[in-house]
Amino acid sequence: MKNMRNMPRRHCYTIFVFLTLIIFFPTIATSADSITPTQSLTNGQTLVSEGGVFELGLFSPDNSGKWYVGIWYKNVPDTTYVWVANRDTPLANSSGTLKIYNQSIALFDQGGTIVWSSNQTKAVNPAAQLLDSGNFVLREDNGSEILWQSFDYPTDTLLPGMKLGWDLEKVFERNLTSWKGKDDPSSGDYTFKVDFNGYPEIFLLNKQKKMYRSGPWNGLRFSGVPEMAPLSNMNFEFVIDQDEVYYSFNVTDKKLLSRLTVDSSGRLQRFTWVEENQEWNPFWYAPKDQCDDYQECGPYGICDANDSPVCNCMKGFQPKNPQAWSLRLGSDGCVRKTELQCLKDKFLHLKNMKSPDTSTSFFDMKMTLKDCEELCSRNCSCTAYANANVSNGGSGCVIWTGDLLDMRKYAEDGQDLYVRLAASDIGDGRSAIPLIIGFTVGGVILVLGVVAFFLWKRKLLFTGKGKTQQRGPLERSQDLLLNEVVISSKRDYSGEKTDELELPLFDFDTIATATDNFSEESKLGQGGFGSVYMGRLVEGQEIAVKRLSRNSGQGIEEFKNEVKLIARLQHRNLVRLLGCCIDMDEKMLIYEYMEHRSLDSILFNKAKSNLLNWQRRFNIISGIARGLLYLHQDSRFRIIHRDLKASNILLDKDLNPKISDFGMARIFGGDQTEANTKRVVGTYGYMSPEYAMDGLFSVKSDVFSFGVLLLEIVSGKKNRGFYHSNSELNLLGHVWRMWKEGKGLEVVDPAVGDSYPAHEVLRCMQVGLLCVQENAEERPKMSAVLLMLGSETATMPQPKIPGFCLGRNPPETDSSSSKHDESCTVNQVTVTMLDAR
Ligand SMILES: *[C@@H]1O[C@H](CO)[C@@H](O)[C@H](O)[C@H]1NC(C)=O
Ligand SMILES: *[C@@H]1O[C@H](CO)[C@@H](O)[C@H](O)[C@H]1NC(C)=O
Ligand SMILES: *[C@@H]1O[C@H](CO)[C@@H](O)[C@H](O)[C@H]1NC(C)=O
Repeated sequence: MKNMRNMPRRHCYTIFVFLTLIIFFPTIATSADSITPTQSLTNGQTLVSEGGVFELGLFSPDNSGKWYVGIWYKNVPDTTYVWVANRDTPLANSSGTLKIYNQSIALFDQGGTIVWSSNQTKAVNPAAQLLDSGNFVLREDNGSEILWQSFDYPTDTLLPGMKLGWDLEKVFERNLTSWKGKDDPSSGDYTFKVDFNGYPEIFLLNKQKKMYRSGPWNGLRFSGVPEMAPLSNMNFEFVIDQDEVYYSFNVTDKKLLSRLTVDSSGRLQRFTWVEENQEWNPFWYAPKDQCDDYQECGPYGICDANDSPVCNCMKGFQPKNPQAWSLRLGSDGCVRKTELQCLKDKFLHLKNMKSPDTSTSFFDMKMTLKDCEELCSRNCSCTAYANANVSNGGSGCVIWTGDLLDMRKYAEDGQDLYVRLAASDIGDGRSAIPLIIGFTVGGVILVLGVVAFFLWKRKLLFTGKGKTQQRGPLERSQDLLLNEVVISSKRDYSGEKTDELELPLFDFDTIATATDNFSEESKLGQGGFGSVYMGRLVEGQEIAVKRLSRNSGQGIEEFKNEVKLIARLQHRNLVRLLGCCIDMDEKMLIYEYMEHRSLDSILFNKAKSNLLNWQRRFNIISGIARGLLYLHQDSRFRIIHRDLKASNILLDKDLNPKISDFGMARIFGGDQTEANTKRVVGTYGYMSPEYAMDGLFSVKSDVFSFGVLLLEIVSGKKNRGFYHSNSELNLLGHVWRMWKEGKGLEVVDPAVGDSYPAHEVLRCMQVGLLCVQENAEERPKMSAVLLMLGSETATMPQPKIPGFCLGRNPPETDSSSSKHDESCTVNQVTVTMLDAR
């Protein structure tokens, strides 16, 4: 009634209509599982399935102000929606009514207008019921035939028993389409759908663009999901017949809650509910790595995530665009060395493969591999063939007629593929292939080794390095650098790799032209050991050039380090090195150009910071975390960045973050977890106590810097130079105190605006505070950080007071030898910040 009093008059009529509706349609009293034409459902009332598994009713996501009819798990505390009826036609307020009308299920708004309805059915005496499977169905009250069901109209979630795919009879499809945002159920950009052109498989699309594909079902699993193994409590099926093409899964234990979703950032995930921990366990996701990105290596390129670079041309093929290929831009793919000659061609046998894109394939489940080979060799447009089903020794036939797209190679559990090659490219006889490959690889290793050794020897003699030191230190470093780039790149730390690290060397003139002779206008900034310029190559590609200042002896070490490191690293959240330029005493690094430059130039700039709404900030935080995780754990070396800060985070045109500046990074050996340095490098305000004070660095000192960065992103304030009236605290201390007092949201940068999911922001802050714990052991690893950021239900420890929480920064000189014995008092808690040694 309170609300009504405040309502303007003109709403009285609609309220009257609404009340009339309610009077005519008595609402259901208790939690039933169904409604009949004489009942209706309004806000506050829900249907609960018979066994109490699912619940249906009106809901409004956090801060959205919009209302929807949806289905969620009844007993999962952090509400998880599995279906939304009116995702694209929300109600403007909570006054909606769901009822059976005109032989369909319909949702009426306050004014009595239908905002959503199911298809009209032929029901005579209909009833709508929520089943324990999560299916909301319309059927005859006394019959069991389902006339309409929500399972035919999935939103972003596939539940056990649901079908993902096509009804070919009615030519109608069921796909998963992501929510637009975390709190916005409207149709988002990502769709996971079955493509039944050729041998069917499932694609993840962004709008219409292919992002990832599952690979075809090969009888055991999806060809692109080798880790998919039979499970005791779940089974998967892929049905292809005249009437239907679909994927579906079922749980054998009816109590097991499992769901497959595509989220608003385009990630496919399968979750199962873990009752003991009261949380969703994300047990599978895709895309997983670079090689899952659709067409990463272009036509006839093969992506191998365990290789570096990841793209390789298959035997008999060469890069179509060698220059781009050497820049690790693989998407142009490969071309044949020798044109095909049709009937004289042979087949190259590839093992452990993900099948190429099957959109242009043809299949026959009855043919044998032998028939398949024959069919393919007789038809000159056939480019490859394989078994359609690999279980029980293999059966069926798929033949490809176009270019072979989006292939990757697995370490195991891939499948065999036979690719058409000109006979001259294949050598003689198929049986000899493995032997020949063996010899070739061995030979290449030997030859490269010898050449590298001689080159290196010559260099030593030539420059007189070793004993005599006639040349200046700078020139020597330059030779060293050349050695590092040219020779050590042929070796790999794993010792297995033989091909060269193809880091292109640009010549000075090219770079001078590209940057307009290093003009002031093209200068982007000045760093510790040189300047950064923006440039444009003749071909039009935009680049960023880091030009090392000529007389910084220190910079050369960093330069070498950076080249060595970053050339080996590939991750979407690390800036990509395109090449380098060494000319006389000029040393330059050429990077991809980042449209939005560095994070600090936006985050700490009042005029621009409102570009970063919460969604973007969260995306930036997660991206940095993923990049850092890659450095710490996923790349082949353990790398400590040592200088993570806002100015070292670059943003591309879509504001995706990329970590840059590896000048100070250190590679760690396999088991090494901690190291000590006499020279503390890095940036105060971001340094962990043990590093600033004792020169001790580890992955956990990077985690500290990440925590500072995270809190800066949330608050829009710099830790260094943070000033708060009547408080001695720096940003870390301030955030901690506010968070502790339950006023965490007051810290959020006003530029974020008002619409953000409070729980996500608070979770983020908690993660940030955990990362800046004084005791390195108490800081989470980056893998845990990502888990905590991504899961609404992950349990997190309560952070204690951060290290370095006072406003004063540690002295900038002689930091490793002076003793510090300060304590930090907040809320009567006294914590000794640093033990005097
Ligand atoms: C009932 O549904 C059908 C088909 O959607 C529609 O043509 C018809 O106008 C509806 N009748 C009423 C009374 O809304
Ligand atoms: C997903 O399915 C719906 C319903 O069949 C259809 O309208 C929509 O176009 C499909 N989405 C895509 C991207 O194909
Ligand atoms: C080769 O195979 C394709 C695809 O099945 C088919 O369209 C074409 O007609 C075949 N060509 C010949 C010569 O058999």
